[in-house]
Amino acid sequence: METLIPIINRLQEVFLTVGAEVIQLPQIVVVGCQSSGKSSVLESLVGRDFLPRGSGIVTRRPLVLQLINVPPMKERLKVENGVKAEEWGTFLHCKNQIFSDFNEIRREIESETDRTLGENKGISPEPIYLKIFSPKVLNLTLVDLPGITKVPVGDQPEDIETQVQEMILSFIGNPNSLILAVSPANSDLATSDALKLAREADPDGRRTLLVVSKLDLMDAGTDALEVLLGRVIPVRLGIIGVVNRSQHDINTQKSLEDSLKDEHAFLQRHYPSLASRAGSRYLAKTLSRLLMHHIRDCLPELKTRLTVLSAQYQAQLNGYGQPVEDYSATLLQIVTKFASDYCNTIDGTARYIQTSELCGGARMCY
Ligand code: GDP
Ligand code: NA
Ligand code: MG
Repeated sequence: METLIPIINRLQEVFLTVGAEVIQLPQIVVVGCQSSGKSSVLESLVGRDFLPRGSGIVTRRPLVLQLINVPPMKERLKVENGVKAEEWGTFLHCKNQIFSDFNEIRREIESETDRTLGENKGISPEPIYLKIFSPKVLNLTLVDLPGITKVPVGDQPEDIETQVQEMILSFIGNPNSLILAVSPANSDLATSDALKLAREADPDGRRTLLVVSKLDLMDAGTDALEVLLGRVIPVRLGIIGVVNRSQHDINTQKSLEDSLKDEHAFLQRHYPSLASRAGSRYLAKTLSRLLMHHIRDCLPELKTRLTVLSAQYQAQLNGYGQPVEDYSATLLQIVTKFASDYCNTIDGTARYIQTSELCGGARMCY
């Protein structure tokens, strides 16, 4: 998703200049059964280790994670103990504390969960709000949710299943949510509760993407090829298989980088025909593409606004009778060029797109 950052930043500038609302990107919400791999999927998208993961019920409150793009500037941050960081997090529940160590972010999520719920298995719809500031992220909101569960354990109330479902629906019911339905490859897709809930919130499937996790954990002699090809259940926006870190990998602190390498090797070996359309990196690219489509949908309104402004300023300038550089016309050109050069090509087959001046002529990979 890093490839989108310069484009979004530049467009946000244009939006701000003309006083339009900044682009509201859809929030990405993960849905699935307990331990299906939701937190692992989100983590691989952000590219940092910071979410509590593990077997059993780990995510017990929604985590609303707001990623905020900041310009790279080494001297920007002064942390109390003299550490300077380019990337850091803050929580709503302790606003003044700056977390530059991502392991501490994970520990704070865990202890804030325990503070409000005790150490038993209770869950709460009360979100934890975390902001991560970094030059490497898009301005985007991701939501990690407790998993769908059927049978109450520990402190959980009798109606735990309904409670969790309502919590999930309240997030994915928002039409500006992109739903990542996570279903493990080692359980039957036809009975996937993730897809069932996603359908309830998004009956046309316009904003649901299916992520098939745990490809490495299938029984010997079986594979997920039919599922991944959409022959079992078709999913309009796509079906993407991934391999994330196992519990053993977590215990031995395997790095995200190594995990991505191993995932790639696994896909090459077991799904050679699909390897280029599977995996965590491909998932990130697909999300970038979906976000790009969203931005493209926002552009006509921005263009109209700029045309009107441009005419107004022109009239004003004519009144002054002096030749002055017409800034709004420049903006209009940028947006028009963006719309034609970039967005139209996205639907095409070109793998590499030479972008307009919007992102300084950088090459974009799709
Ligand atoms: P969540 O409860 O849905 O958020 O799932 P987590 O991300 O916490 O993962 C649950 C457990 O499954 C953890 O022990 C992970 O290590 C493990 N896990 C997640 N994805 C995979 C995968 O693709 N392969 C394997 N082998 N284990 C996975
Ligand atoms: Na879990
Ligand atoms: Mg989780």
